[in-house]
Amino acid sequence: MKLIFEKGAVGQHLDLLPACDVPEVSLAHERQEGLGLPHVSETELTRHYTALAKRVHGVNDGFYPLGSCTMKYNPKINEDMAALPGFTQVHPLQPESTVQGCLEVYAAAEALLGEITGMDAMTFQPAAGAHGEFTGLLLIKAYHCHRGDSERTKIIVPDSAHGTNPASAVMAGYTVVNIPSGPDGCVDVEALRAAVGPDTAGLMLTNPNTVGIFDKNILEITEIVHDAGGLCYYDGANLNAVMGVVRPGDMGFDVIHLNLHKTFSTPHGGGGPGSGAVGCKEILKPFLPGPVVVREGGGFRLAQPEHSIGRVKDFYGNFTVVVKALTYILTLGKEGIPDAAKNAVLNANYMMKRLKEKYHMAYDVTCMHEFVMSLEDLLHETGVSAMDIAKGLLDNGIHPPTMYFPLIVHEALMIEPTETESKETLDEACDVFLRLWDLAHSDPQALHDAPKTTPVRRLDEVGAARNPVLRYQGDKQ
Ligand SMILES: Cc1ncc(COP(=O)(O)O)c(C=O)c1O
Repeated sequence: MKLIFEKGAVGQHLDLLPACDVPEVSLAHERQEGLGLPHVSETELTRHYTALAKRVHGVNDGFYPLGSCTMKYNPKINEDMAALPGFTQVHPLQPESTVQGCLEVYAAAEALLGEITGMDAMTFQPAAGAHGEFTGLLLIKAYHCHRGDSERTKIIVPDSAHGTNPASAVMAGYTVVNIPSGPDGCVDVEALRAAVGPDTAGLMLTNPNTVGIFDKNILEITEIVHDAGGLCYYDGANLNAVMGVVRPGDMGFDVIHLNLHKTFSTPHGGGGPGSGAVGCKEILKPFLPGPVVVREGGGFRLAQPEHSIGRVKDFYGNFTVVVKALTYILTLGKEGIPDAAKNAVLNANYMMKRLKEKYHMAYDVTCMHEFVMSLEDLLHETGVSAMDIAKGLLDNGIHPPTMYFPLIVHEALMIEPTETESKETLDEACDVFLRLWDLAHSDPQALHDAPKTTPVRRLDEVGAARNPVLRYQGDKQ
């Protein structure tokens, strides 16, 4: 398929504005060359982008079991709410008295998410999950420093944590202490006990963790860390498995980030705007990034927390993502929130049970919202890898699961069916997975050759990541 720059011809164009009827003014920094825009008509332009859209496989095309990272159900009503002119046509520097409705959205979202997580206060400034982690760690740091406890320089991170956890800890200036998981996929409690000490600033726990397991020792874990004087951080990006059922605040956690763009709708895949809202207990509230929204009289105003770590993002965060999250919570209600979590867990366990017939489960225990298979045996027996199976799925209209993650499982495929898929869809998907297993044994070459039906076949993914060409170079290419 041709690029838009390779289409059309000089002279063809799309007139959006009438000819200028006032004297032209020369600007001091006027461009020396033309913009180099494509010369295409409106019809060509529309056809080009429609053709591109048809080549993409998205949630609206078929089953999309990508694990760990994204919300697949994005109710259309959320978009309608986020597009209301009262939300889109305000400016962040408007006087508070003129944006009371927007401030109320923040206050309402804070109250409801506080209830769901068991936290006392919240900021919506962080733009994504990893940004929330960084912010939460700065709160922990500010808390210890404020008490004059500056010897706490280490953050403990289990090996089943999401990859962003250790990266965020390093960015916040901490040394990471990695502790192993046991054969059951849970934190090795004795290793944790041995790791904590007077230099422990805190622990970061992804729960359910990256292998889809809820840590059964969670209360003991937070107690061990607190007894050593550290604070407990909950990576709540996977809260869609437990929301409305259990609360991190009740399990002893002091600070949490949520991926609103994952658990509370808003598509994440593709890098759209997100919100890594951070909730905390009363002891960390004075350190929150400012400004925060406070209730006063019958209205709302912005205030600076007493010992604020400062801003982590311009203005107040990605506002419309919060509007969508609030809409989602209010639409589902008190019963709907735990129901969504339970359905996510049910769907994952249903698929796991069916696939267990042939595939090897990395941890053969009841899972939460996702589960991880290891295709190491299949690779040894047939030469067919996790990548080959993933490519085979594409030929069957299914988006691949997350591949080769988490790193602690070899030849991993991580499957998250999500709560909104019907039994019929799950059965169809399971049938495809099981057929591909048989194909791996009967005709492995067919899978090495997959995909055959997609617009492009096997790509040089490493090359694309290492040497990305992100800009059309014209004749220079
Ligand atoms: C468990 C977990 N923690 C953290 C993150 C990081 O979130 P983000 O990609 O929004 O930075 C993710 C990912 O998507 C995640 O699944």
